[in-house]
This record gives sequence, structure tokens and C-alpha cells, in this order.
Amino acid sequence: MKLPDDPTIAALDEETRRAIAAHWLHRASAELGVAVAFEALRPRLVGVGAAPPVLALADKAMVDERRHGALCVQLAARYLDTDVATPAPRDGALPDFGTGAEELEVALLVLGTCCINESIASEWIRSCFRIATAPTALAANRAHLQDEIDHARLGWAHLASPAISDALRRRLRPWVPRLLDVNVAQWMKPDPHLPREGIAAHGHLSVEENEAAIDAAVRDVVMPGLKLVGLA
Ligand SMILES: [Fe+2]
Ligand SMILES: [Fe+2]
Repeated sequence: MKLPDDPTIAALDEETRRAIAAHWLHRASAELGVAVAFEALRPRLVGVGAAPPVLALADKAMVDERRHGALCVQLAARYLDTDVATPAPRDGALPDFGTGAEELEVALLVLGTCCINESIASEWIRSCFRIATAPTALAANRAHLQDEIDHARLGWAHLASPAISDALRRRLRPWVPRLLDVNVAQWMKPDPHLPREGIAAHGHLSVEENEAAIDAAVRDVVMPGLKLVGLA
């Protein structure tokens, strides 16, 4: 992706530029890990009879997350004003819920990874975009947001599809609070690279803004979505 000219980066002090670059490198590793996770999820979706539009979204997600990883590396390089190596993907192994039932395992993966995690990601990135004023941060968050919404859609589309029987839906329901808790706890962790007060112009939320964004995502997107697919 071609990033816009951005004189606001050179105007930052060295410590702030290093902190933002560390954030983007950490994000690069996470995005590449999610690509690995989508690659592992794709054949399992086929195995449980996922609908063609869901599989098409899974194909897009794999490509998107690799591109996001590359964009994050590019952002780190921009803030450090030097080339940086692509980090290794964060562990992208899919969790095993130990149910012994593949249909339920795949539905749980989709519920956690796409419906909950990617919906929170979309709302969180929207919040980052809203506070940003630096051209680079605006362009990067816009690019990410466009795609993360599709990754959330993958999840909602699968859970709303005939691949999920009423019996399977009943077995999914008791897992919802636990999956919500685990994902929300991850998102609430402050980024150790960034100051608690955030760096608004460059799209980095304060700890309080981060918590508010996650709360809004759960209340306004995840819970209504769960209700629509009969899981609330
Ligand atoms: Fe992503
Ligand atoms: Fe994503």
C-alpha cells in the first residue's frame, strides 16, 4: 500500500516514534498469526458444509491478514525511518475446545475468532480512526477497517446459515459467556508499548478509550449479533 506523505511523524520525538513502531511490529506478528489461523480454519469450514459465501469470505480473510501484516511492517519502518524485518507470525494454532464434535468445534472457532474477535476489532479500529489526525494513521486504520468488517461477517454468515442446526445452536449457547470473557479480557490488556494516555493524533487510544471502545463493541455489535443468530 502506498502510504501518504506525513510530516507529523518526523515532528515526533524519538521515544514516541519507537513506541509506535513497536506497536506496529507487534500488530504485524498478530495479523500474520491470524492469517495462519484462517488458513487452518478454511478446510474445516469445508468439512462441516459451510456455505460458498462463507468460504469466499474465508479466502478473502487469509489474503487480507497477510496484507495487514505487511502494512504493519511498512508502518513500523515509516515511524523508525529505516527498513525493518518482517516478524514471525504469532502462534496461529486454533484452540481445541475438547468437545470431540467437529461441527461444534468449528462453530466455536467461528464464534470466537470471527463473530466476537473480529467484531471487536472492527469497532476498536473505528475508534482509532476517529481520534487520528496524522495522514498515515488515517490511511492505515481505514485500510484495516474495510477488511476486518468482512472477517466479522464471515462469522455471522456462518452462524446464521443452515450449516448450524437448531441442535448445534443449543450446544453452542452455554459457551457464549466464556468465549466473550476470554476475548474481552485480551482486548482490555493495555498495549505495553504505548503510553497510558495514548497518542491520539496517530490513532492510539488511551487505556480508558480502549475500554470504552471494547464495551461499545460488545454492547452495540456483538450482543445484538448474538441475539440475531439465536445465541444471546
Ligand atoms: Fe487484520
Ligand atoms: Fe481480521
